[in-house]
Order: sequence, then structure tokens, then C-alpha cells
Amino acid sequence: MDLAVLKDLAWRAMGTRISHPGREPGFVYYHGQRVAQIALQLRELIFPGEDSLDEVILVAGWFHDVGKGIEPHWEYGALVAREMLKDFCTPDELEKIVEMIAGHTLRKQREYPSYVQLLQDADILDHFGSLEVWLNFYHCASHSQGVDAALQFYAEEYEREVASVRSLINFAAAAEIFEEKVCFVRSFVERLRREARGEIVWDQKKAKD
Ligand SMILES: [Fe+2]
Ligand SMILES: [Fe+2]
Repeated sequence: MDLAVLKDLAWRAMGTRISHPGREPGFVYYHGQRVAQIALQLRELIFPGEDSLDEVILVAGWFHDVGKGIEPHWEYGALVAREMLKDFCTPDELEKIVEMIAGHTLRKQREYPSYVQLLQDADILDHFGSLEVWLNFYHCASHSQGVDAALQFYAEEYEREVASVRSLINFAAAAEIFEEKVCFVRSFVERLRREARGEIVWDQKKAKD
């Protein structure tokens, strides 16, 4: 596949699009770029050296949310991607890419090949960690809400969301990365909670050591 051409195609389809209220224009393009990178890193971690489908994984990551905004976006996205990509890949590559896009949200609903599971896990991981904080802050700001609204979300909804998503992760390595991201956010939010009420978070003794 000509990856430069396909990346440009992804940009033209999603680069400036508003796909979701409360998210920045182009979110779905940059999310796709990150998910593709995460999926490739997971592949190397979990199936080291088995790189025969890396281009398929990369392109499926780029386009997995191309249908966002028209639900069910995984079904619509599979249709759109089939049409957009048909002249740029082999029939086998196209079938796998379409299969990955169509299955990316349907986690644990049936047995999926590992290349679909990698995309499913990568998609979850991009919604947690520092990027999750970004999404939350951007959402609050675009709704003219302040720090309190973000803190309220973390106090009342975050842990429930973490618990429900955790059970959908396929691979142990992805689950460990997920836990690390959740720990980071918890500690960040704890500090935000303190600094948001004007507290100085500074260990004088530690600073002197
Ligand atoms: Fe999606
Ligand atoms: Fe996604």
C-alpha cells in the first residue's frame, strides 16, 4: 500500500472534520493516527517480529473512526472505508481493514482474530491517560464549565468508566498499560483537586534533600 497516499486520504477525510460535539476539529484524524501507532506497538510487544500485517493495522487504525458521527459508526465506517480504499490495496488487505473497522467497538462479542483485537485495545488505550485529561478538559471548556466540573466527573463517574472498560481489554499487556494510565490520571486528579482549592503541593523536606 502507498502509505503516503493513504495518510493524505485520511487527512482529507478527517483532518478538519468536527465529528463529535465537545471535541476539537480533526480529533478523529489525530485519534486515528495515535491508535494506529499504539496498535503497532502492542503488536510488537505481544507478537514480536510478526510484522506481516503491520501496514493493514496502520491503515485500519487511521480509518477506524472514519464513520464517526453517523451511527453505528463502525458499520458506516466499514462501508465508507471499503469505498475509499478499494483502489489503494489488495482485496485481502481491504477485507482485513474493513473487518477491523467493523469490529473495533464490538469487543468480546465473538472470537476475533488478533489483528482486530489489537485495534480494539489500542482504541481503548488512546482514551485513557493524559489524553483522557485533555478530552475531559476540552469538553468542559467547550461547554463553558470550569475545574469543578472536571473534578466532579473524576469523583462520580471516572472509576465506573474505568471498571467497565477494563473488562473489555483483550491482552494482558494492554491491561497493564491501561492500569498505568489510570494510576497516572488518579494522581494527577488528586493534585488538581488540591491545587484547585489553592493548596500548595510542595514537600519542603523533600525539596531540601
Ligand atoms: Fe470508534
Ligand atoms: Fe476510536
